[in-house]
Amino acid sequence: MPGAESVTPTIPERLWIANGWEDAAGGGTFPTSNPATDEVLARVPAAEAEDVDRAVGAARGAMENPDWCRMSPHGRAELLWKLADAIEAEADELATLETLDNGKTYFESRKVDLPSVVENFRYFAGLADKIQGATIPVAGPFLNYTLREPVGVVGCIVPWNFPLSLAAWKVAPALACGNAIVLKPAEQTPLTALRLGELAGRVGFPPGVLNVVSGFGETAGAALVRHADVDAIAFTGSTPVGKTIMREAAETLKKVSLELGGKSPNIVFADADLKDAVRGASTGIFYGKGEVCAAGSRILVQRTVYDDFVAAMADRAEKTVIGDPMRRDTRLGAIVSEEQLERVLDYVEAGQADGARLVAGGERARVDGRGNFVTATVFADVEPEMKIAQEEIFGPVAAIMPFEDLDDAIRMANRTIYGLAAGIWTRDIGKAHRVAAEVRAGTVWVNTYNQYDSASPFGGYKHSGFGRDLGWEAAIEKYTQVKSVWVAMDR
Ligand code: NAI
Ligand code: MG
Repeated sequence: MPGAESVTPTIPERLWIANGWEDAAGGGTFPTSNPATDEVLARVPAAEAEDVDRAVGAARGAMENPDWCRMSPHGRAELLWKLADAIEAEADELATLETLDNGKTYFESRKVDLPSVVENFRYFAGLADKIQGATIPVAGPFLNYTLREPVGVVGCIVPWNFPLSLAAWKVAPALACGNAIVLKPAEQTPLTALRLGELAGRVGFPPGVLNVVSGFGETAGAALVRHADVDAIAFTGSTPVGKTIMREAAETLKKVSLELGGKSPNIVFADADLKDAVRGASTGIFYGKGEVCAAGSRILVQRTVYDDFVAAMADRAEKTVIGDPMRRDTRLGAIVSEEQLERVLDYVEAGQADGARLVAGGERARVDGRGNFVTATVFADVEPEMKIAQEEIFGPVAAIMPFEDLDDAIRMANRTIYGLAAGIWTRDIGKAHRVAAEVRAGTVWVNTYNQYDSASPFGGYKHSGFGRDLGWEAAIEKYTQVKSVWVAMDR
């Protein structure tokens, strides 16, 4: 690992369109702040429909520019690899920017997010020259073959919890497949995405291949979804907005992929290594302040070890250090925004009102008298129908529930509209595989939690969406379309 020192970052303050910095046509801007200090970091342009249209036009231009649409697959691979190198070279700065804008710890930004972003671009660089069609035996004197072609202009809309990582999950495969992109980062965290656009231009991606527009969901995001010249939308965010996007995209028949929310069960059996399970369940809910789509927010614990587990979880939560996200010993950073903080605290209130037992945390905290912090919170004796057991909180709030046996565990695990991820803690290998098969979730972790790799597909069942990020097959499915070519061989 290269030096992990925070540095004073360059703060981008304009839209990135066709490899140049631009203001919003209407001149509107909005502030993005540091949730750990409440300080405004920058004012960035608030793109409106007109600006989105300009960015989409630039992307369409790139799709028609021979420098991009006729670039060899090796050329795309090389550019993606160069982009990975450029990100790696600026990792300290990008990680600092991410932490300032989002409030997550610098440790997470620098040691987890940035390395995974670099690796992601390298993985998809490797895919660029391996996308191929097939020759298909058909009846009659014909040669039939397929071509895998880019979908075209892809709108990528990403949330604020992993601003650069989630952008990379979409941008890297979409570029590998030869598309052009308009990326709209979340209004809470636009900075690293804007820098990503600049770096792509700097390493040689032709103008318009990657455009980045900061702006609000209801304006810039909606304009991208409605735009007649956008061919696909790749979205990560909340389930309600996912539904809106699907409805809005119907009008222009866009290809849509949705990676949405979750209420993932983390299931602890009595035969598990309890220490491991407590550690895993804590990271499962407190990592990234619990602002993680796959957070293990429902912790199901077998009755015979329930009391011990609850006590150990509460103890761990009490010891989770809240602090300045830039400090090395901080484990819980700042909640991304005041609005999100209020939402989390409302859920804490709902848990208490519904009769769940608060065994740790549940309070607003400040660091040096400022910022949006919430203490690591644990509720025990949560009933499956309570709000805190059903709705995505997106904060450091664990809901623990007891179960009796394996069938009971599976039933409870699946009692949710969501299906993003699940964790299983047991030493019984048969039990682990049985639960893995029966739980309805896109990812299952056994005796571990929150593992990701560019090679392994990630996405949801049920209301957690459809389509997968990561993995080469999912990328080809999402970011290419198939053309079938028939050639008569008898004339
Ligand atoms: P959101 O779903 O509104 O925001 C995600 C992205 O969608 C942002 O870039 C936003 O600007 C954009 N967006 C919003 N409305 C849009 C629209 N009508 N058309 C196009 N784009 C639109 O999430 P929000 O409001 O920031 O967070 C609220 C809750 O959503 C959180 O408490 C959490 O439960 C959930 N959430 C889940 C995420 C996940 O990764 N599963 C990520 C972010 C939020
Ligand atoms: Mg911010």
